[in-house]
Amino acid sequence: MPVTTYIFDAYGTLLDVNAAAAKAAKEPAHAALADVWPALARDWRLKQLQYTWLRAVAHRHCDFWQVTQDGLDWAMAAHGLTSDTTRTRLLELYWELAAYPEVPEMLSALKTAGKATAILSNGSPDMLNGAVTSAGIADDLDAVLSVEDVGVFKPADRVYDMVGAHFGCDKDEVLFVSSNGWDAAGAAGYGFQTAWVNRANEPMDKLYAKPHHVLPNLTTIPEFT
Ligand code: LAC
Repeated sequence: MPVTTYIFDAYGTLLDVNAAAAKAAKEPAHAALADVWPALARDWRLKQLQYTWLRAVAHRHCDFWQVTQDGLDWAMAAHGLTSDTTRTRLLELYWELAAYPEVPEMLSALKTAGKATAILSNGSPDMLNGAVTSAGIADDLDAVLSVEDVGVFKPADRVYDMVGAHFGCDKDEVLFVSSNGWDAAGAAGYGFQTAWVNRANEPMDKLYAKPHHVLPNLTTIPEFT
């Protein structure tokens, strides 16, 4: 089936999740992050995601802003960081994460080609709207779909169901794009065509399905028609 609908994960795929810690580490008030920020960013992200999966299997949903704060609190404690000012600054920066450099041109090429585009993300609607506006990509997205409408995190089928419900398209008309290997696998298992953007050159996740395409970044997405 030709691809009509391009669906993107947000955090790590369109938006650089490491940008918050990288930026704060350069600010004099947060000098304690200078050496530790890459490990802090990694642990923050890992805990944030673990909490989404645990809350999904335990049927204890809360929004992504809560797990983002909880993940940061765990990571700061793990690295012996106690500054409330640094915590506040890191969380503030999460609302204005930079888009990866190739994102604006890639989205605009899809819109010029008449394709449907959207984000499908664990993020809460206000977090996503803040980030999309600050990254300057709102005009090239037809929809920003948040799991808050179904009350469970990825990779639950109910989340991927939101795409067909919104666009009225078949699963095999969708190219789902994520830099999270487990999300790309989940979407492939659901029945979407999928592209895994393997920015970090990681091994493929050993899950119940595999992504159809593996890419180093998003530049070639408009070529998948
Ligand atoms: C999201 C997370 C998984 O945006 O990156 O849904």
